[in-house]
Amino acid sequence: MKVIVTNSYDETCAVIANMIKELVNAKPDAKLGLATGGTPVPIYKKLIEMNKAGEVDFSRVHTVNLDEYCGIPGTHDQSYRYFMDTNLFDHINIDKKNTFVASGMGDFEANARELEEKVREGGAADLQLLGIGHNGHIGFNEPCESFPAAVHPVELTESTIQANSRLFDRVEDVPTRAITMGIGTILKARRILLIAGADKREIVEKALTGPVTPWVPASVLQLHRDVTVITCGE
Ligand code: PGA
Repeated sequence: MKVIVTNSYDETCAVIANMIKELVNAKPDAKLGLATGGTPVPIYKKLIEMNKAGEVDFSRVHTVNLDEYCGIPGTHDQSYRYFMDTNLFDHINIDKKNTFVASGMGDFEANARELEEKVREGGAADLQLLGIGHNGHIGFNEPCESFPAAVHPVELTESTIQANSRLFDRVEDVPTRAITMGIGTILKARRILLIAGADKREIVEKALTGPVTPWVPASVLQLHRDVTVITCGE
């Protein structure tokens, strides 16, 4: 595992955006696993700038997102499909047909199977971007008794609902379920980039140096052959 500590969050985001740019320039049909949340927004802004400046071409790139809330449609402004469209896809030259965010509506089990198929289609992701929750979750894999292997519907923990309520009018509006790649699904990626702001330092430290346990889901990254953790010192 490689750990990069930058001097600022802006530098963290620049480092990651550059890694993605270099990957896509080397492999124009790269498959990217993408994440939502506050953490990646400045990274996506930098990718948009790079794309507009002609430094990177997304026209052949495929993307698959980690997770989606259950019970809200992709047109809802808090859905992860809406997030990806408005924070990235609508502003770069990607073909939207090549972007996949699970549906959170209808048959959740069928939607989970569809996401698992998309993860397998065309082979493993060249790169998976990950944030981390204050409870150590990656995707929506909440602390639990065993590492979930495959994509699955999940009940969100109270701490995740509270953390995400900042984006909703009322805490009662936060979906209580989601569909997420499992830990086994995430570990299939060839390379994993975990990004964390200074507010996540404590949980990152626990995940990287503590025991590997499903009670700290991100700790499983210690077992992957190509993980880079990028965090900032302030
Ligand atoms: P955040 O979420 O980027 O909004 O802090 C990260 C996560 O919960 O995985």
